[in-house]
Amino acid sequence: MNKKNKRVLVKFSGEAMAGANGFGIDTEILRYIAGEIKLLAENNIEVGIVIGGGNIIRGVTASAGGIIRRTSGDYMGMLATVINAVAMQEALEYIGLDVRVQSALEIKEICESYIYRKAIRHLEKGRVVIFGAGTGNPFFTTDTAATLRAVEINADMIIKATKVDGVYTKDPEKFKDAVKLDVLSYDDALKENIQVMDDTAIALAKVNRLPIVVCNMFKERNLLEIIKNDAGVCSIVK
Ligand code: GTP
Repeated sequence: MNKKNKRVLVKFSGEAMAGANGFGIDTEILRYIAGEIKLLAENNIEVGIVIGGGNIIRGVTASAGGIIRRTSGDYMGMLATVINAVAMQEALEYIGLDVRVQSALEIKEICESYIYRKAIRHLEKGRVVIFGAGTGNPFFTTDTAATLRAVEINADMIIKATKVDGVYTKDPEKFKDAVKLDVLSYDDALKENIQVMDDTAIALAKVNRLPIVVCNMFKERNLLEIIKNDAGVCSIVK
């Protein structure tokens, strides 16, 4: 299937949605992200979105006390991503975008189920598609879900929207000599254990030659600059 426009998958962490509260959904952040996504849509960029669920529940953490099994914790996390997806849909529609939420788990009263061919048609029609409920399976991260969806929809890149400017050799908040890496290979990301994404996600990107862009979501217009002009502040794994 030939694409007319650029197509990207943007992955936001659930924690980013929480803002300073550290929990729940900060409506100002939601408004900000929606504005950044609108810039993409206005520039004929087709956008898929995956949002984590860590602002509501983290599967691993929920199961840490032993009462909740990991599998159930992960399913709870998947439900959390649907909550974030619906919130984001509202925020995007509020500013005039067409949006569809598709869930990997069937919750038909709330949103469509994930159907890959339908997702592509939505994108072609200029709708933003938000993919909820991860991969629908426990033991997979939302980074892996985002990479999987990016590959399925034949995205040109997956953008991991974070609080940092890119990938550093060390934690830049702890080490003054940390150096930002503009470009690195999939193999280096795996070998050096640079936690851009988990290994499953990076391996999936590698096999499918999907570039992973790590960028600062709080730098205004950064997403647009990266996609449209190959500029912007980021690191690329390819
Ligand atoms: P086209 O008409 O094919 O271009 O797409 P469309 O998404 O506008 O049409 P559709 O009739 O599939 O959907 C109309 C609205 O219903 C959209 O907002 C969909 O997100 C929503 N919708 C479609 N299927 C479901 C579903 O199974 N559950 C829920 N909750 N909403 C759905």
